Amino acid sequence: MSSELIKECTKRRQILRERMLPNSIAVIPAANMVTRSNDTEFPFRQDSDFHYLSGFPEADAYLVISNSPLMGDVFSALFCLPKDELAEIWQGRRIGAEAAPADYEVDIAHPLDDILVGLTSYLNGHENLYFARGHHGPSDALMDEVLANLRNAPKQSKIAPSCEFDIRLLLHEMRLFKSDFEISIMRQAAEISCDAHIAAMKYSEVGKNEFHLEATIHHHFAMHGAKSPAYSTIVGSGDNGCILHYTENNCELQDNNLVLIDAGAELQGYAADITRTFPVNGRFSEPQKALYQLVLDAQLASFAMFKPGSTFKAASDKAIEVLTRGLIELGLLSGDLEDNIEQQNYRQFFMHGLGHWLGLDVHDVGNYKVAGADREFEPGMVMTVEPGLYVSETAEVDPKWKGIGIRIEDNIVITEDGYEVLTDKVPKTIADIENLMAN
Ligand code: GLY
Ligand code: MN
Ligand code: MN
Repeated sequence: MSSELIKECTKRRQILRERMLPNSIAVIPAANMVTRSNDTEFPFRQDSDFHYLSGFPEADAYLVISNSPLMGDVFSALFCLPKDELAEIWQGRRIGAEAAPADYEVDIAHPLDDILVGLTSYLNGHENLYFARGHHGPSDALMDEVLANLRNAPKQSKIAPSCEFDIRLLLHEMRLFKSDFEISIMRQAAEISCDAHIAAMKYSEVGKNEFHLEATIHHHFAMHGAKSPAYSTIVGSGDNGCILHYTENNCELQDNNLVLIDAGAELQGYAADITRTFPVNGRFSEPQKALYQLVLDAQLASFAMFKPGSTFKAASDKAIEVLTRGLIELGLLSGDLEDNIEQQNYRQFFMHGLGHWLGLDVHDVGNYKVAGADREFEPGMVMTVEPGLYVSETAEVDPKWKGIGIRIEDNIVITEDGYEVLTDKVPKTIADIENLMAN
């Protein structure tokens, strides 16, 4: 575990403490293992909020953060699985309550078996509880029991918090703004992912399968330190490129088809999220070129709207204007530009948003509206910019357009005076893609 991460986590807990109302306590659960089938589990992934505040990598743990002197010198406590020789032979090493405080800079750690009694005692007397109700079923039930213990204590000998706040409001606002430490990890995740896309472009060939490209990508991630993808990799060739979350990835690559790859590595918990679309055989056909260039033009035009004070709505309006004008010029839409935009006719071909926050979660946390208004961009926010056009085989259009699905997705960080693209290493102009694939 990197000491830099642990220092960041300590700083984050301190900020949370300062932002909570006085005399408050927060409880944050870790993720649990999830059964895949008999006696086997899905690969473990830590809960993003818990990771953000603790850096502790194990399942079945709880983090407690207080800003009250009620708990003496204890401002952060961890409950974790106890050391257990037999369990560790079967399921893996555990850090244990003895080692955790020094390794993770918490004031104290307890074995998980003490959670009910321990939480009851910690919550006692705090006025406010910060907790993510509905996020993790077992913790909801545990918290109900803890609160009942406090409320039902004989002769009102214990005091339950009188207010419960949703911790997500405070915590996700913090997560929305990335520190230099976080941006440097995201830059590395982006770089690994860019190179993986380049490897897949080079490997593409008629007769290979979508899952060969998926394997090329995942191999590259792992060989460069990113053990897992940040989400299920999408490799959609031909009409499959029009299925937005296609993950079957098991069709043979056909001559004259495009292939859309949406793949990003997860590095130290942080996601990259890149899409590139390229011809299986390395050469775009004329209709593919026309639609591809339109998506690229829309993306490049929208980039100008990514700067402090601007909004996703402003950027999205720009992309929609370019896409709609182009669709009219190509004959995929007819009529007047304003009417088409007003009627949202482009939605037949571009049916998702322009982008989303990016961070520990691929669709990262953070509000998109503030007091009902579109959220303004500020330095340190990281997001995707991903216009697309999808003309499926069932669309009622000239057959030359059918089976063409295109998305171009990059990751950017808002800076003091604009934006920085984290993912510009993968080619995306028609000429650059064709050149790369020809060599
Ligand atoms: N990879 C999911 C997305 O682009 O939103
Ligand atoms: Mn994506
Ligand atoms: Mn995305």
